[in-house]
Amino acid sequence: MENPAKLSPMTARRAGALAGHGRVPGDKSISLRSLILGALAVGETRITGMLEGEDAISTANAMRALGATVERTGERAWRVLGVGVGGFATPSAALDFGNSGTGCRLAMGAVAGCPITATFDGDASLRSRPMRRILDPLARMGARVLEIRDGGRLPAVVQGARDPVPIEYEAPVPSAQLKSAVLLAGLAAPGATTVIEKEATRDHTEKMLKHFGAEVRVSQLGQHGRRITVVGQPELEAAPVVVPADPSSAAFPLVAALIVPGSDIVLEGVMMNPLRTGLLTTLKEMGAAIETVAQRNEGGEEVADLRIKGGPLKGADVPAERAPTMIDEYPILAVAASFAEGETRMRGLSELRVKESDRLEATAAMLRNNGVEVAIEGDDLIVRGKGQARGGGMVTTHMDHRIAMSALVMGLGSAEPVSVDDAAFIATSFPGFADMMRGLGADLS
Ligand code: S3P
Repeated sequence: MENPAKLSPMTARRAGALAGHGRVPGDKSISLRSLILGALAVGETRITGMLEGEDAISTANAMRALGATVERTGERAWRVLGVGVGGFATPSAALDFGNSGTGCRLAMGAVAGCPITATFDGDASLRSRPMRRILDPLARMGARVLEIRDGGRLPAVVQGARDPVPIEYEAPVPSAQLKSAVLLAGLAAPGATTVIEKEATRDHTEKMLKHFGAEVRVSQLGQHGRRITVVGQPELEAAPVVVPADPSSAAFPLVAALIVPGSDIVLEGVMMNPLRTGLLTTLKEMGAAIETVAQRNEGGEEVADLRIKGGPLKGADVPAERAPTMIDEYPILAVAASFAEGETRMRGLSELRVKESDRLEATAAMLRNNGVEVAIEGDDLIVRGKGQARGGGMVTTHMDHRIAMSALVMGLGSAEPVSVDDAAFIATSFPGFADMMRGLGADLS
């Protein structure tokens, strides 16, 4: 996919009203965790509703290379036979995580607690992302970084600890990947490993660890923070995992319906974990008509059907404290803000610079190319919406699935078509995106 000859351009044109029902693929965070925790558990983990995107495939391949059995048994149905905590085998080749930062970083934590050496690698996007934030605390637990590229970039050779040491770790950045890596390494350490986060991030790892029988204690820390402790050296017991629909994927058809006048769609079974619903809160503040119907619990997570109708939006001020609950949703929120009346200020977005691309710059460039007034001030993104967008731009996606999908959604509401240079990376998190959008009435070609 790094070969320009293989680029897959795509264009979105202004559509008639979107209508119908749809279900987006399984949540990426939960799918990847079910593969990794399944590989660390004893027994058979049955996963249903699995995301069958490239990030999950590369993570599944890595778990196989580390000794687990991972099989697809049916549509979105997978089984994992784990090797037990600390039981990974030395892989015979580098682990290639492709585009998946989550797969790579969580696996680093799991490997850090095993007496093996493994090479971690990925595509050009993953090779550009910082890994020291993960490897520094893992080194405190006894892992060693034998090789790494300048700037703490992949490929990296990591030697796990023979006798991992439990730590108490205050995370310097709000990152669920960082928290998860330390907790997974802590599974193999004797005693309590604690992560302190000043701002709570998605809690799927701690919930799934409990579901697999580990002792996990979570307490509130101030208004926004949490203290999470895992007691090491349990045997994780395989347990069935039901993966709900990914709210970060639902965000794309959702915003499409908001900005295409007359739209009325229903998205089924969307996960409503409060650490993932910052976008919904924000869009409602902007005046969006989003109705939550049939709220229920599925597989330990709240889910709901969302009914979304097109209509006018107004600008909003999005506080920095909300960022961890919608960290992947800023590109698509910026699209919604372009179609709103007035200014939207999104505060405290420094973490966007280290995503699959520099998403702060890529988002601003996407809007600018399509005639929207946008500025970056420090770590804030400011969009001055005029209730409509000109479009007509060609957007560079920088190997970033969420930039590609955001730009295409923008094209559905803009006066002129919007094109992306490469739609291929959409398959990392949302296989079937174009088909689902076409099913709702979108014009994508
Ligand atoms: C994820 C955490 C977030 C998010 C990513 C998925 C996870 O990354 O951007 O898409 O599943 O833990 P950070 O932990 O780096 O914020």
